[in-house]
Amino acid sequence: MTKQELAYHMQKNASEIEDALEELLPSPNAQNPLTEAMRYSTLKAGKRVRPFLVRQFSALFGGDDTVAIRFGCALEMIHCYSLIHDDLPCMDDDDYRRGKPSCHAAFDEATALLAGDALLTLAFSVASTTPHADAAKRCNAVMLLSECSGWNGGMIGGQMLDLLYEDKETDEHILNLINDGKTGGLLRCAALLGCVAAGAGAKEMRAAEAYAKNIGRAFQIIDDILDVLGDRSMLGKPVGSDEENHKSTFAKIYGTTGAFKLAKDYTDIACSAIAGYPGSDLLIEYAMMLLNRKK
Ligand code: IPE
Ligand code: IPE
Ligand code: MG
Ligand code: MG
Ligand code: MG
Repeated sequence: MTKQELAYHMQKNASEIEDALEELLPSPNAQNPLTEAMRYSTLKAGKRVRPFLVRQFSALFGGDDTVAIRFGCALEMIHCYSLIHDDLPCMDDDDYRRGKPSCHAAFDEATALLAGDALLTLAFSVASTTPHADAAKRCNAVMLLSECSGWNGGMIGGQMLDLLYEDKETDEHILNLINDGKTGGLLRCAALLGCVAAGAGAKEMRAAEAYAKNIGRAFQIIDDILDVLGDRSMLGKPVGSDEENHKSTFAKIYGTTGAFKLAKDYTDIACSAIAGYPGSDLLIEYAMMLLNRKK
């Protein structure tokens, strides 16, 4: 798998996910700020990492891509909701996201809160009405979306810990706990939704989950490094937000060079978890790309 081939797959994914999200979201309606805000924060932006992982794991284990696209869109809606809420003044208080004003800056706080809620609830409707998936697959998808974004080790639980540990001393164990929740939650969800779409077995699911857990750790470490060393216009979001909010990150406790080494180690563990499966070279190249990304 060359870098050019991977870039082709990523572009294809971004454009197909854009089309699918456009169909699933409410139509444009200038009179309705709620639906405008949902569209504003979901369409035409983002790397679409999570839908890419859903589709690639589905493909790796022989799944139906139309089911994977639909599950990927549901998950991307939850991801977009998490970004809207993450930027609110009561959370990270960031007014710039995906290269434009954050949802609460473009609309207002109440509309941003409700647009996030609306994307979350829409995601469950989208997953549970997936055509060409049997009832068991749809039910499993809904359960995974709920658990991986939820309070107990999922995205919301991680976000709570992230806030609780502002201004506090942390160590590797605590930072992994935070990152496994706030970022790992949705990435694990992506890999497992791909497995569900494909009807993969328990062994495949364990391998997919190990890959996702470890790229999740690496992904958040790189995000934290880019918050220190990155470029605002390239990233499309503020730099220096973590320092301003007194967040504890690996970049803070090990320095950016030490943190990058750790991210590389987690990426290697992720790749070895799936290396035995024919066709896994794409996901391995993707993990390397995420490690070396600049946005
Ligand atoms: C940002 O996620 C939030 C984190 C979990 C670090 P992404 O880096 O995937 O954001 P988009 O979707 O590309 O904007
Ligand atoms: C947030 O981590 C992860 C989410 C659940 C949104 P960050 O707060 O570091 O994400 P960014 O840097 O704002 O995208
Ligand atoms: Mg945050
Ligand atoms: Mg943030
Ligand atoms: Mg960040």
